[in-house]
Parts: sequence; structure tokens; C-alpha cells
Amino acid sequence: MSEVYDVVIIGGGPGGYNCAIRCGQLGLKTAIIEMRSTLGGTCLNVGCIPSKALLHASEYYAAAQNEFADMGIEVSGLKLNLEKMMAQKADAVKGLTEGVKFLMKKNKVTHYEGKGKIVGKGEVEVTDSEGKAQKLGAKNIVIATGSEPTTLPGIEIDEERVVTNTGALSLKEVPKKLVLIGAGVIGLEMGSVWSRLGSEVTVVEYLDHIMPGADAEISKQAQKIFKGQGLDFKLSTKVTGIEKLKTKLKVNVEPAQGGETEALDADVVIVAIGRKPYTEGLGLETVGIGTDKRGIIETTGHFKTIVEGIWAIGDCVAGPMLAHKAEDDGAAVAELIAGKAGHVNYDLVPSVVYTSPEIAWVGKTEKQLKDAGIKYKTGKFPFMANSRARTNHQTDGFVKILADATTDEVLGVHMMGIGVGEMIGEICVAMEFKAASEDIARTCHAHPTLSEAIRQAAMGVEGWTMQM
Ligand code: FAD
Ligand code: NAI
Repeated sequence: MSEVYDVVIIGGGPGGYNCAIRCGQLGLKTAIIEMRSTLGGTCLNVGCIPSKALLHASEYYAAAQNEFADMGIEVSGLKLNLEKMMAQKADAVKGLTEGVKFLMKKNKVTHYEGKGKIVGKGEVEVTDSEGKAQKLGAKNIVIATGSEPTTLPGIEIDEERVVTNTGALSLKEVPKKLVLIGAGVIGLEMGSVWSRLGSEVTVVEYLDHIMPGADAEISKQAQKIFKGQGLDFKLSTKVTGIEKLKTKLKVNVEPAQGGETEALDADVVIVAIGRKPYTEGLGLETVGIGTDKRGIIETTGHFKTIVEGIWAIGDCVAGPMLAHKAEDDGAAVAELIAGKAGHVNYDLVPSVVYTSPEIAWVGKTEKQLKDAGIKYKTGKFPFMANSRARTNHQTDGFVKILADATTDEVLGVHMMGIGVGEMIGEICVAMEFKAASEDIARTCHAHPTLSEAIRQAAMGVEGWTMQM
């Protein structure tokens, strides 16, 4: 065995690299193993970062086409240079993945490039791309191997014409007709990007609504807005197969409950029906760690697996598959290993969909409160009545605050509007401190800002919204 570490982390995504940084800060001798050539995981390489780079650039392109003229900015000769747009995306990815590499060095974390496999309690084998293997000793092993796209039976992914998020973020030309399977987060974000760049987009969704998990009122309004932006939705519909013809794809769909088949033409199909934990070749069986039927690594609480000294975090364990959740898991498990009180509040992990307008929420939905028999009061404020939104001509959406009917504690906040992905941070802090809606209502917010809509919605809980 070449080296013995206090902690060996398998997987260099947001879970793994944040765990490594915190371990380094806490003085633990740490190694991180990543099989990709770059650190950063799904998030930095084929997820959050490249998707946001394309969302940002495509939003400018769409604004230049559809919004600039009304503000007195006349543009002529506007042209898409997709290669350059992809290059700026690659540049963002490169800068950030190199940044993570620097952070490993800064925190004295040893980085092994290769595939990690647990070969026994306290033992990990790393095999590099040339097949050369070496064994590392580990007082603690942290599994942070993340997730991979779920695929549909009988549908072959080639990452050229039938793609997952990986291919969807690197298409070489704008498809004329694009079919997305799944109206979840990837479906809406990628659908927005390619629709703005000129594709005719159809989103096929099995359920009768988009964005499962979001507040029902927001899901309904968002669907209308996205339809107005050119996304066509086929709800309560399932895909039964894809025929790959020479010049096009034929996507066969039928009603979710069965019925007549219809064929949709497409140049590209994006499959975005959720993700599943990635544990292939990890050697869980060598130590007897199990997974549930969705492949989620079983933990017994506080990131512990049934094997002493083996921990698991991020997308490969239960909970929302989000980068910030994985990051928080990573820091908390490092603290637990170091004998501190690592903790994550899973009730307050925010969700953001980076469409235009953005959608953001944290805490309970109305349905969850009703199902739990909790009595609540609601305050709501539309961006149409917010002065900054009006000034910017970006008035879609609203803020909805749900507060306990007796104690006034804020239990959930649901927002749709420009910039709400940034504004949700204020709510997370307030809810961490168990704020009452009145605390927010009586907190001075700068004028004119979009965040005043939050304050007005909070005032609405007690019926004293002032600006509507
Ligand atoms: P990952 O990021 O998946 O990292 C795991 C790493 O482990 C991978 O790099 C993998 O190569 C490596 N690995 C696996 N097995 C081994 C092994 N045996 N040996 C060595 N290495 C191994 N989340 C957000 O919060 N905000 C967003 O805006 C957002 N956008 C997204 C957009 C897309 C298109 C996608 C697909 C996801 C997005 N996500 C977003 C989700 C986010 O990317 C994940 O939740 C996050 O990356 C999970 O972090 P992780 O560290 O658990 O796993
Ligand atoms: P998702 O779970 O968000 O959405 C999947 C959608 O596909 C659901 O609406 C589901 O009902 C539908 N579906 C499932 N099976 C289907 C079928 N056979 N036919 C038609 N529809 C079907 O998953 P998605 O969009 O693939 O994203 C994966 C995960 O990545 C997300 O859950 C999220 O955790 C993460 N992510 C987060 C982002 C963010 O935070 N902004 C952005 C992108 C991804």
C-alpha cells in the first residue's frame, strides 16, 4: 500500500471537492479520486455551469431579438455564432474546474486521476486510464460518486441525435425540431436555451403538469409563460420509441394511460427524465453496502453507511440531487469525521430553475402543508406591481409566502420572476432564523428593487400589503 490517508474521497464533484477542502482545513490527510480528467463533477463539467453559461448567452440573444427595440436599442445584423457561444461556455467550465484543482493544492489534498474502487474496509484501489492500479489506505472513505441520467428502455443514447444533458450542452448546430422527454428542470432549462436559439421545441411529459415538486400555481403559470416563449408541451404523454431515420428521428408517443400513437418529427431528442446514483464498479459489494431499488446508497443517518468508516454524500444518497446539497453534505461529513458536529438542514435546501423568468422555492408547498394538516396564512405579491420590475418591463411572476396560522413562522416561499434565484437566499437566511412573516415585512428593503416584492408579500400575510 503506497499511502495511508485519514480520508479518501471517491468522486470529485461538488460533494467530493467541498468535502476535500473542509477536510484539508481541519488538518486531515486527504486524497480525492476522480475518473474524469477534470475535477468538478457533473456540476462543473456537464451540469450547472455549462447549462447556465448557455442560458445566460441565449437569454441575451433572445433579448436582443425581442426586447431591445422596445427600449430604444436598434440592432441590425444580429447573428448567432454557436461555435463562439459554445467556446465561452467551455471557457467558464475550464476556469472553474482549474479553480477546483487549485483549491485541492491550496488545502493540501492529493488528487488521484483514475477510477476508485473500494476493495475492503479501509482500502481503496485507484486505476488510471492506462490500467495502472495502486492501493491507498483510508481510515475513512467518503463515497461521492454522484449520479448519471436515467434512460428509457429501448431508447439508445448516441449523444449526437438522441442525447442526455451531456450531448444537449454541446450540439454542433441548432436543431430545427427538438423533442425533449421530461418537463423537469433539465427539460425546461435546455428547452429554453434551444428555443431561444431557434429550435422548434416540443416537451413530452408523462405527468399532467410540468415541474413536479414546484408549487402548483407556479407550475401552471410557468407553463403558460413558457408556451408563450415557444415551448410546446405534450402533457400526460409517454414516449414509446424513437425510430432513427437517415435524415430525421421519429418519436412515437401515446397518451400516458394508453391510446392512439402519434409520431413527432425531430432532428434531436433530449432525454431528461431524472437521474440515478452512479455506483458502477465502485465495489460496494466487497464491503456489503446495499442500495435501494433506485440505486440510492443506503445510509443510517449522518452520512454513515453500515460499515464503520465508510460514508456517503451528494447525489448518490437520498435527498435532492442538487449541487448545493452535495456541497453541504461534503462539509458536514468532513466535520463529523474530524469529531465536530456536522449538520445539514434538509428542510431548507432551496430549488431554483434558471429559466426566464426564474423559479425559486424553499420550504413547504401548499399541498404539503394541507396534507400535513398544518393551518397557514398566505401573502402574495405580483411583480406587475413592483416598481423595479415595471421599470425593467419584466413583470411576469409573483412571490407567495406561506406562514403558520398561529405562530406566523414562515413555512414556505414560492417565487417566479426575474432574479428570484438570487432572492431566495434572503428567505433561506430568514427561515434558518425561524423568522415570522412579520420579521420580513418590517425589514427595510432597498427601493427600487425586485426584493421589495418579498416584503410586500410578507405584509400580505397579515393583510397590509401597501403597494397594491
Ligand atoms: P457529481 O457532480 O456527479 O460528481 C461525482 C463525480 O464522481 C463525477 O465527476 C464522477 O466522474 C466521479 N466518479 C464516479 N464514480 C467514480 C469512481 N468510482 N472513481 C472516481 N470517480 C468517480 N444542481 C444545482 O444545484 N444547480 C443547478 O443549476 C444544476 N444544474 C444542473 C444541470 C444539469 C444539466 C445537470 C445534469 C445537473 C444539474 N444540477 C444542478 C445537479 C448537480 O450537477 C448535481 O446535484 C451535483 O453535481 C451533485 O454533486 P455530487 O458531487 O454528488 O456528484
Ligand atoms: P427531473 O426529475 O427534474 O424531471 C424529470 C421529468 O421527467 C419529470 O417531470 C418526470 O415526470 C418526467 N418523466 C419521467 N419519466 C418520464 C417518461 N418516461 N416520459 C416522459 N416524462 C417522464 O429530472 P431532470 O430534468 O432529468 O433533471 C435531473 C436532476 O438534475 C433534477 O432532478 C435536479 O436534481 C438536477 N438539476 C437541477 C437543476 C437546477 O437546480 N437548476 C438544473 C438541471 C438539473
